Amino acid sequence: MRPDPLSYLSAELNALKEQGLYRRLRILEDEQKAKTTFDHTSVVNLSSNNYLGLTTHPRLRERALEATRKYGVGTGSVRTIAGTMDLHMELERRLAAFKQTEAVVVFQSGFAANAGTVSSVLGRDDVVVSDELNHASIIDGCRLSRAEIKVFPHKDVDAARKILQALPAGKRTLLITDGVFSMDGDLGALPALCSLAEEFGCIMMVDDAHASGVFGRNGRGTIDHFDVHGRVDIQVGTLSKAIGVLGGYVAGTRSLVEFLYHRARPFLFSTSHPPAVAAACIAAIDVLMEEPQIIERLWENTRFFQSGLKQLGFNTGASEGPITPVIIGDGALAMTLSDRLFESGVFAQGIAAPTVPAGKARVRTIVTATHTREELQFALDTFATVGQSLGIVQ
Ligand SMILES: Cc1ncc(COP(=O)(O)O)c(C=O)c1O
Repeated sequence: MRPDPLSYLSAELNALKEQGLYRRLRILEDEQKAKTTFDHTSVVNLSSNNYLGLTTHPRLRERALEATRKYGVGTGSVRTIAGTMDLHMELERRLAAFKQTEAVVVFQSGFAANAGTVSSVLGRDDVVVSDELNHASIIDGCRLSRAEIKVFPHKDVDAARKILQALPAGKRTLLITDGVFSMDGDLGALPALCSLAEEFGCIMMVDDAHASGVFGRNGRGTIDHFDVHGRVDIQVGTLSKAIGVLGGYVAGTRSLVEFLYHRARPFLFSTSHPPAVAAACIAAIDVLMEEPQIIERLWENTRFFQSGLKQLGFNTGASEGPITPVIIGDGALAMTLSDRLFESGVFAQGIAAPTVPAGKARVRTIVTATHTREELQFALDTFATVGQSLGIVQ
């Protein structure tokens, strides 16, 4: 028999098992909602990005069904050949109005939006100046662009300034930050970074994946929250988190969008969203505009849960929103905490290196607008019991 040329992969997996970092995929056997069933276990779900509960909102469901009846289940082509439906164009128009920009292009995912945009607007003679905790899709986009990558310590605007000062004059430079950092829940230093971009003539880009639907008026994101409209050249959002469906988008000028239609490789070389996806996303924008009380509930739940964790003595880091990490440090202990919580009816994912820096492992919690007070209190009580049994809190 031929020796397995991939045997080194099993060796790596075994190493993960020995370190207590091996993860089996949890299987969701019900809808994605606040209390649901994973792996035959009923749990309070603190692990989804379904901030507003829109994955199961009746208006989105209905519009997806209508679109499926009218247009079928797939588009059969990439956008640039035969796969642009009127629904895709309507979604882009609605998102542009929502984000208050000239135009929007929708990608198949937020990952594709970041990676496809950074890699196409920059080339090998350019420079990107990036926060060290920016999302993997930004990092991959930077690598694909072949631009020189300069990383500044998290939110350290002075360090970013020093990098910019040291660059040769006239270098095309992209300054890029997440709006909300996905593992810590804190906000990017938008106003200060926008000022730097203006001072040094950089292209300013913000990835608002976790901010859209959460921060700003009606969930318009951190650009709206910080009131830096007109100062961010490239805004990325996702349709896969608060919007509850799937996809990503880039908001900016008409010429940026037209350029990405021609040059962004995930847009050019991957089939467009099924009609149900585009229609449900349009319905989600209607919900954001017409049912803002859902966003209010998200924030009430966030305040309740976060202050509860703090009172119990957990280290919740620098969170400024619904993503609340419970920072543990040791990877194996974070995974044990997550497993014990799950056995006790609370699903909060353990996250270790390389997703977060070594020594900063955590259990990440995300509350949604649809959690009841009882569910959140149950989760807090469970955190207290399990945290005490593992010696994490007293
Ligand atoms: C900050 C950030 N940007 C982009 C993405 C990618 O979004 P999507 O899930 O739509 O691909 C994520 C998702 O994990 C994220 O956390």
